Amino acid sequence: PFEKQIDSILALMTFEEKLGQLNLPATGPITTGSSKSTDVIKKIEDGLIGGLFNLKDHKNIYEVQKIAVEKSRLGIPLIFGMDVIHGFKTTFPIPLGLSSSWDMEMIKKTAQVAASEASANGINWTFSPMVDISRDPRWGRISEGNGEDPYLCSEIARAMVRGYQQDDLTANNTLMSCVKHFALYGAPEAGRDYNTVDMSRMRMYNEYLPPYKAAVEEGVGSVMASFNEIDGIPATGNKWLLTELLRDDWGFDGFVVSDYTGIYEMMPHGMGDAVTVTSLALKAGLDMDMAGDAPGIDAAFIKNLKTALDQGEIDMKHIDKAVKRVLTAKYTLGLFDDPYRYCNENRAETEVFTQQNRDFARKVAAESMVLLKNENQTLPLKKSGTIALIGPLANTAVNMAGTWSVSTDQEKSIPVIEGLKAVVGDNAKILYAKGSNVDYDLELEKRGTMFGKDIPRDGRTDQQLLDEALNVAKKSDVIVANLGEAAEYSGESSSRTNLHIPKVQRDLLNALLKTGKPVVLVLFTGRPLVLVEENDTVPAILNVWFPGSEAGLAISDVLFGDVNPSGKLTTTFPRNVGQIPIYYNHKNTGRPLGNSEGKFEKFKSNYFDVRNEPLYPFGYGLSYTTFDYSNLKLDKSSINMDSEITVSVDVTNSGDYDGKEVVQLYVRDLVGTVTRPVKELKGFQKVEIKKGETKTITFKLTGEDLKFYNYNLDFVAEPGKFHVFVGTDSSTEIMEEFELTN
Ligand code: IFM
Repeated sequence: PFEKQIDSILALMTFEEKLGQLNLPATGPITTGSSKSTDVIKKIEDGLIGGLFNLKDHKNIYEVQKIAVEKSRLGIPLIFGMDVIHGFKTTFPIPLGLSSSWDMEMIKKTAQVAASEASANGINWTFSPMVDISRDPRWGRISEGNGEDPYLCSEIARAMVRGYQQDDLTANNTLMSCVKHFALYGAPEAGRDYNTVDMSRMRMYNEYLPPYKAAVEEGVGSVMASFNEIDGIPATGNKWLLTELLRDDWGFDGFVVSDYTGIYEMMPHGMGDAVTVTSLALKAGLDMDMAGDAPGIDAAFIKNLKTALDQGEIDMKHIDKAVKRVLTAKYTLGLFDDPYRYCNENRAETEVFTQQNRDFARKVAAESMVLLKNENQTLPLKKSGTIALIGPLANTAVNMAGTWSVSTDQEKSIPVIEGLKAVVGDNAKILYAKGSNVDYDLELEKRGTMFGKDIPRDGRTDQQLLDEALNVAKKSDVIVANLGEAAEYSGESSSRTNLHIPKVQRDLLNALLKTGKPVVLVLFTGRPLVLVEENDTVPAILNVWFPGSEAGLAISDVLFGDVNPSGKLTTTFPRNVGQIPIYYNHKNTGRPLGNSEGKFEKFKSNYFDVRNEPLYPFGYGLSYTTFDYSNLKLDKSSINMDSEITVSVDVTNSGDYDGKEVVQLYVRDLVGTVTRPVKELKGFQKVEIKKGETKTITFKLTGEDLKFYNYNLDFVAEPGKFHVFVGTDSSTEIMEEFELTN
């Protein structure tokens, strides 16, 4: 749409100015205040920078933009990006938590709120959503994604893009979204961050690529290339990925940015020298170089494209194409009309971290929590008596927002203890003890693992901490143990091979259990943990993830039953690390087990030391009430590609509380030209059902829903028998059959 204007600017640009548009430096020094880092400012004046990222504060952004507009020769405005991942100042749960709400409208609104707060602060581009499917909880960034299922993750990708961009990118309260990390970043071998990815095209197309494609279909403005290789070629320089698939097949017309130093990282990947890797990236379809321009290094495109051109590695049309895409984004954002439209003093003061946004964040956090166990209705708690609040995560603000919350004022988050006090008021007495450190492992410390960065180690000995906790526990009617991972345990470069709650905390938990008092485990985590022991011994487990800025209030809302939990897992919780990768939509194999009781069968596909099923399956989550499923019906026994089938089921709230249930529909394609998963999610509805009430829930299925990529990568539905399952989680066996005819 802006072709004419862009062509006329392009005609005025020098070679260097063109390369400048492709340069996106990190603004570390600017962020920390010495923003007038002379070389960045000088480069902006010289037209050698196209945008900056993670620069905080609209006043800084205004100043820097002014330099670009008034002092650079052509006055081209900068684009300002930031990792606005799960909120800006008002922080929502980590994405894995948010996905557990299964509430698309609510998820969309979180992106909308984040966009409105960030855009009031000068930001116009966010590196979100991250839609990498992951089946490996060892990988720390599983916390930043939406779990393991392609259908659900695609719905969430759409909701997030819609929320950030709405339908008007020139509006001053929207952000351009950047879907990442394209592609397959969530499948590194052994769960080690940045590691090799290797998978079949069929698996890519059916299981890992759908969420990125959904974001593109939703009109996402930009895409971030991932660090990993795909078929032996790093994504950053992978032409099949960035051009043939993304642009030619999917019709993406925005711009592609590298991940942080992604271009130069192709050198240690073994793809050649600086000129070679830079040329590869540009020719593959990568438009912007993130953080190539860092202290001590020169920006990849700026430094190397002249040589590449002289050597005939690239030609001018490659450069012009990339420049045009970056300029188009700036036009789309309205920056040429008003470069300061996102710097609004008044909005920054009145629309950020408002009570309204925080109230919403409290609700979102409560909706994202997953009740994993609740024996003898230990929960909800009564707002009376004496409550022992124990654990290293009970009284910390800085951990509540979780990973990748760079814009959040961490210390403003509400710790559990404060939330609890606010919610129970004078009705109950709250006693607090820390109980233990988050972790204590000298071996890890020797290797430089940064435990305790957020929660400083207590000066007292383990025994002293424990004694204090037991003393408090003794005086109480119920114990609420706040345990798990600290925020820094998950996120980028935080892979773990041990997925237990740290030992020192498990020792504390066991000591608390021995008191004989009822114990509720409030679990903080950025990933599925191994909880077999806790599941055996603790009466109630509430997984709160990292709930965001209103953590303490939201946790208390659920603990005391002001909110009935309704979150459902979007990722499988294994019984042990050896089961990984473990996911619900697996294949049957030629030697499936013949029993569902977990009995070992020799020469069948199972382990002799642990059953195949996970501890908690995908889709799992309890409520304070109970839901019964009955009357699963299909309105016909066969359909063809032009018709649809209606699936209905009655869901009865048979317990004592009003509640919400995520009704899930799965399909199994019994016979195919290639093997098909044992179950695939094809629909879900989150419904509110009053106690005693029965609701009939209906779903429609068409031939389109039954399509998959076959051996030739054609997207087809194959005639034959299908099973349709409906239920409360992916282990449901409530099933009917239908046929797809020619
Ligand atoms: O957006 C992030 C990305 O997810 C990981 N590397 C750094 C980028 C910018 O901060």
